[in-house]
Amino acid sequence: MRLGEGAAAARESLAAGVAAVLALRPHPDAVLVSGDLADTAAAEEYRIVRELLAPLPMPVHVLGGNHDDRDALREWFPVPGASGTAPAPPARGAEFRYATEVGGVRLVVCDSTVPGRPEGQLDLEWLEAQLDAPAVVVAMHHPPFALGMPALDEIALGAEDTAALAGLLERSPQVLRVICGHTHRAAFTTLGGRGVFTCPGVHLTARLEIGAPDYTMAAEPPAFALHVMLDGTVTTHVQPIER
Ligand SMILES: [Fe+2]
Repeated sequence: MRLGEGAAAARESLAAGVAAVLALRPHPDAVLVSGDLADTAAAEEYRIVRELLAPLPMPVHVLGGNHDDRDALREWFPVPGASGTAPAPPARGAEFRYATEVGGVRLVVCDSTVPGRPEGQLDLEWLEAQLDAPAVVVAMHHPPFALGMPALDEIALGAEDTAALAGLLERSPQVLRVICGHTHRAAFTTLGGRGVFTCPGVHLTARLEIGAPDYTMAAEPPAFALHVMLDGTVTTHVQPIER
């Protein structure tokens, strides 16, 4: 969410996204906002986002993106406790990460941010410790794969962490999906034998231009993803948002 130029459009986009989720029948068990809730991490930006998300009756989980501030995020969107109780307050600047339950699936929300940097990193040790459940979905802001769009690929999860994550996923069949944000485009691949998906932007859409050195926005409809648990597998839908 931006203040100043573009703010009205960003607000309208998020409001339209919320309305589109509310129109789904049945309602999803939860909503995950996949990072970059703010542009400059100003308190006013988070206040607006929280206000716009408030009509959603289901739990709303958020994760940190490179435009977010960990402490501000924690202040405006308290981390859910494992059993619904508030966890001990973390140190200032500590990673914004947690695990929670959504529809019988453990949702593990990683913090892939590097404060002050656009690219991502991952604490594999922490992630592995969260995976002891029969069905797990792992969420992180930075996708652990290349889209073939260099300007985006340069700021994805780092190569070393991506390789380590591939190894972890190979020995973790309970991970049904890895879901990401950051790219303003829907894209899908596999890593370590698991499906990895990065979701479209609710406001701005990156132009599809394979190999282009620059990252530009296109006047294309925003969208959101709906992940449906079916017979032990996850099916991911991409739903454009009408305005
Ligand atoms: Fe991002």
